[in-house]
Amino acid sequence: MGTIDSVLKENRLFPPSDDFRVKANVSGMDGYNALCEKANSDYAGFWGELARELVSWKKPFTKVLNDSNAPFFKWFEDGEMNVSYNCLDRHLEARGNKVAIIFEADDGSVSRVTYRELYHRVCQFANGLKSLGVKKGDRVVIYMPHGVEAIIAMQASARIGAIHSVVFGGFSAGALRDRIQDAAAKVVITANETVRGGKTTPLKSITDEALGLGGCDSVEKVVVFQRTSAKPEHWSEERNIWWHKLVKDQADECEPEWVNAEDPLFILYTSGSTGKPKGVQHSSAGYFLGTQVTMKWVFDYKDSDVYWCTADVGWITGHSYIAYGPLGIGATQVVFEGVPTYPDASRFWQMIEKHEVTTFYTAPTAIRSLIKLGGDLPKQYDLSSLRLLGTVGEPINPEAWMWYHEVVGGGRCPIVDTWWQTETGANMIAPLPGAAATKPGSCTLPLPGIMADIVDESGAPVEAGKGGFLVISKPWPSMVRTIWGDPDRFKKTYFPEDYNGKLYLAGDSAHRDENGYIWIMGRIDDVLNVSGHRLGTMEIESALVANPLVAEAAVVGKPHDIKGESVVAYVVLKSSRPEGDDAKKIAKELREWVAHEIGKIAQPDEIRFGDNLPKTRSGKIMRRLLRDIAKGAEITADTSTLENPAILEQLRQSAI
Ligand code: WT7
Repeated sequence: MGTIDSVLKENRLFPPSDDFRVKANVSGMDGYNALCEKANSDYAGFWGELARELVSWKKPFTKVLNDSNAPFFKWFEDGEMNVSYNCLDRHLEARGNKVAIIFEADDGSVSRVTYRELYHRVCQFANGLKSLGVKKGDRVVIYMPHGVEAIIAMQASARIGAIHSVVFGGFSAGALRDRIQDAAAKVVITANETVRGGKTTPLKSITDEALGLGGCDSVEKVVVFQRTSAKPEHWSEERNIWWHKLVKDQADECEPEWVNAEDPLFILYTSGSTGKPKGVQHSSAGYFLGTQVTMKWVFDYKDSDVYWCTADVGWITGHSYIAYGPLGIGATQVVFEGVPTYPDASRFWQMIEKHEVTTFYTAPTAIRSLIKLGGDLPKQYDLSSLRLLGTVGEPINPEAWMWYHEVVGGGRCPIVDTWWQTETGANMIAPLPGAAATKPGSCTLPLPGIMADIVDESGAPVEAGKGGFLVISKPWPSMVRTIWGDPDRFKKTYFPEDYNGKLYLAGDSAHRDENGYIWIMGRIDDVLNVSGHRLGTMEIESALVANPLVAEAAVVGKPHDIKGESVVAYVVLKSSRPEGDDAKKIAKELREWVAHEIGKIAQPDEIRFGDNLPKTRSGKIMRRLLRDIAKGAEITADTSTLENPAILEQLRQSAI
């Protein structure tokens, strides 16, 4: 692949209104360009100034960037601070009584927590963790329902200098065990159950199952938040402790642990192109700075805003734009436990009206499913409080963008299409809403200080209109620091030798149009994007072959109207190829198996059985062929190197 052809053509332009532009934190393209120039002429000075403005330091840094051990960059390395202090304590004087969180539970009940209350609850829980022996640098796994307590757990961990690893509540016992084991966590924080869309999931039982799988000897205590009245199946007096009992007699003040700017704040696992998820390790100060700068520039934060990001804390979006970004800047935010379609597809619109939301950040997949379930529903609600909309997770198709703009935003709200990754920590490419005119489907321009480029295989920039690899050519404060326990993999994955280790390779293909706007075209590695979630094909394949029935498996993505991509698995059984009802039965069993091994999000939508897989003579599975077959498309790939051409016809007819 030299360069990649791009096909999308979209010329509609949506400039911000004069009113929005005038009031914006970065006003007009002049404002944007001035920031870019500053970053270009004095990179360290630019970031140093922002770090002094947006982060409260216990001990100020004297050095901005240390690149002597690239790609293990250090930012603000002699500074000391605490992220929880920055999110709570520093607001107490000016906005102690301001609502920090408007929490809406799955069943619609609403509670509010002020900054002062949140501060005391975080302090109490931090003291509770300390009483369990958790110290600076210890790992704490958080496997909780999306809600106030999950945020408290993260903040408390940050407060005492521990390193959290949040595991999304939809992951299975196996996935949880792998993450506990890789991080050698001392404490796991969970809940008896989660409630989403009216259904419960027994997190405590899954945690017990995970610990029972072995390899989790590091775990000393499991803290259990009581979300519902359901009694846990098992209770170990030695290992388990209820959240409410842990905090009961704890003081509601807790001096923060002052950490070094580079001390890790958290690990978050994400899929890559091997079977093993990567523990993306983030720093404290640089990461936090990334969240603050983008809250200000991209979300154009104003004190009067009611901000709502619909992600779950189990993902990076929930870390940067729920647990840290909005609290750091002192925002009032809505936190929603449930799903967009329960009790019906008007839930989001009803909540925007009820809480007078001004800033709404969601995913293209949610937008597409809500269009399908009721494209007119937003019109029944008063959405006039909205002033800014955002999307994240995958490219948004122009039709969905236009609907979001017109029907939800009433034609008046800029849309910030934010490109970023678990590894980047914060938004990287996105319109500044009071500056850039947006185009449906483009994430537009790199943020000031973010040196994004599109290059060919040799690392040379490609010309406009030509596709290439998206790279970042200078380190930035909120970047991933390493892969937990695997610095070699960090180097190889993100700073490959192909580019002399000098460019951060994002793993996406992209092109620039004639205005310099960036269009993301998709992943270049074996990573799928299903409903905005990253899934490694290898990870699903290893789960499948772990099943005693399966000899071999290959997983590919297939375009899907709502999810963006869906998972298709080609499976060769150890026994002969099943047909008819037999095939259906085994397919169902394998789908359940994957849900149990990884989680429901990784379940194949389709399973096809073959006697074999299409391979080259050297034994490499020809995935492009499998993708074509999954799509039902004409096979365009070169099949001359195929060892067993007859298999193609069989697989084509293998849909069940
Ligand atoms: C991958 C990162 C960043 C939080 C959510 C996902 C894709 C993300 C966009 C966007 C086009 C996007 C990329 C990226 N992606 N945002 N606005 N336009 N593609 O985080 O799980 O780390 O996935 O999501 O492919 O590499 P993640």
